[in-house]
Amino acid sequence: MACRLWNVLTTLRLTPVVKGTWVREMDVAERPAGAAREGRVAIVTGGASGIGAATGERLAHDGFAVAIADLHQGRAGDAVAGIAGAGGRACAVPVDVSREDSVRAMVTAVLERFGRIDALVNNAGIAGEAAPAWELPAGEWERVLGIDLSGVYYGCRAVLPHMLARGTGRIVNVASIAGKEGNPNAVPYSAAKAGVIGLTKAIAKEVATRGVLVNCVTPAVIDTPILEQVTEQHIQYMVSRIPMGRVGRPEEVAALIAWLCSDDCSFSTGAVFDCSGGRATY
Ligand SMILES: NC(=O)c1ccc[n+]([C@@H]2O[C@H](COP(=O)([O-])OP(=O)(O)OC[C@H]3O[C@@H](n4cnc5c(N)ncnc54)[C@H](O)[C@@H]3O)[C@@H](O)[C@H]2O)c1
Repeated sequence: MACRLWNVLTTLRLTPVVKGTWVREMDVAERPAGAAREGRVAIVTGGASGIGAATGERLAHDGFAVAIADLHQGRAGDAVAGIAGAGGRACAVPVDVSREDSVRAMVTAVLERFGRIDALVNNAGIAGEAAPAWELPAGEWERVLGIDLSGVYYGCRAVLPHMLARGTGRIVNVASIAGKEGNPNAVPYSAAKAGVIGLTKAIAKEVATRGVLVNCVTPAVIDTPILEQVTEQHIQYMVSRIPMGRVGRPEEVAALIAWLCSDDCSFSTGAVFDCSGGRATY
């Protein structure tokens, strides 16, 4: 009897919202703009600057409450104020993604504040020193890998039990074209980003049937403050390899990430999405 009732309700597309109360699910086209994501919560690591800041703004615009998680709390506060000024909901959360205890504390703080996490954007990263592998200072390999690769792993580990328990979630890892092709004078960075691609594919398969989608993006050179860490010569090298002949804008990457955080992304997981002005055609 219960089973037949359930079949009737689902045929009519009726969904329980509160115990004993049923509403008809609306078609996506019927929903008011932003309503599909209303009440949802996203964490953006490295959300105080560049691609992360643009992603926070975009997700807030799309209806997410956004936790701007960053090492740099001053800039994170500015990003939160910007989102609030535009009518969105956001809070700043301190995190050092290279430390697993810090990442766990970030997730706990967001759950205490908002009660749920629908999307995690593992975006925090550094370029590292630009030099040939044999000339890099001691410890540079560990420093870059600790933030750019271990930080992504810690983020996935910390948030997955919550997402799996709810049977839904989106994780977007920000890798780089350097992880697909290898950029000279950026060996730790290229290795870390290649690791992010492999990690994304492997974790996605572990959770593919459990409602959690894990994807990564591989931008080419994007106009953000990270470029202050690399030489003009290195930037020219990267731009020269882009068929569109220009750097990308953070908003262009944010739009792709926002789609990957949305319900519209429903049959893609473990995938690598380029945002490279045509540099990667594979
Ligand atoms: N800009 C590009 O050309 C480009 C291209 C491909 C990939 N990416 C990737 O995009 C991501 C964002 O880069 P961006 O260009 O916006 O750089 P950005 O320097 O503008 O922003 C990076 C943010 O990460 C934060 N951060 C750094 N270390 C951290 C740590 N240990 N814990 C927490 N936060 C930390 C910084 O405070 C900063 O707010 C990075 O992963 C980067 O590798 C950038």
